Amino acid sequence: MRILISLCLSCIVYSVGMANDWGKTGHRVTGEIAENYLTPEAKKQIDSLLNGQGLAFVSVYGDDIKSDDRYKKYGPWHYVNYPFDKKYGDEKPSKHGDLIQGITTCVQVLKSTKATHEEKVFYLKMLVHLVGDLHQPLHVGRGEDKGGNDIQVRWFREGSNLHRVWDSDMIDYYGMSYTELAANADRLAPIAVKTLQEGTIIDWVEETRALAKKVYASAEIGQKIGYSYMYQQFPIVRKQLQKGGIRLAKLLNDIFAA
Ligand code: ADE
Ligand code: ZN
Ligand code: ZN
Repeated sequence: MRILISLCLSCIVYSVGMANDWGKTGHRVTGEIAENYLTPEAKKQIDSLLNGQGLAFVSVYGDDIKSDDRYKKYGPWHYVNYPFDKKYGDEKPSKHGDLIQGITTCVQVLKSTKATHEEKVFYLKMLVHLVGDLHQPLHVGRGEDKGGNDIQVRWFREGSNLHRVWDSDMIDYYGMSYTELAANADRLAPIAVKTLQEGTIIDWVEETRALAKKVYASAEIGQKIGYSYMYQQFPIVRKQLQKGGIRLAKLLNDIFAA
């Protein structure tokens, strides 16, 4: 009996502790949208690296490898936390790495003439994933509550936490596949696309951070959230997934310029 109880407890701890980022659907939407904004040259070079797999397919690789201890050091790459009254860079960036250092490394390796084919494949898959994470507001959150993972809330009748609501509960509740969500992204004029692609990775992080502040203010610990939360917040989720795709394409087009 004791063994059974401790087994159950470790399962609960494991499942609560497993932050799964945007969730598979969210990451795939971002990958799928990025495909629509690639230049022919970038498409060609990406295809030769991914050997038939699309950006949506490889977008979840960054989460898949979390279960493999050999890839433990990439864990901190999925998020960046710093105090709300500071800008990134005001304090020394974490020596364990963070989302910005992760993305920067991916870009460097992909641009390098010295990196091997295998290295490029790995860092390309990571880049697709991490640009998705960069647009999940709570991946640019507060360290003390692990980006909202420690803020327990009720999602309809189920126990959840604020981080999970933003990673996956809202997206799953909507009930569309990643291809349907990507196909129904708002149509944007070329100038709007160009505007979204302006700025640096740090600018994008600060923009996501402004959203994170609103997300923290959107729900109290223990609050029951559901229909009206979905109605108010899901448009922001859709927008963030689309921005992620459009900006991922921008990074890839620059990396793989002819
Ligand atoms: N762990 C600690 N901070 C986190 C964050 N912002 N997002 C996901 N996991 C985290
Ligand atoms: Zn997450
Ligand atoms: Zn992630």
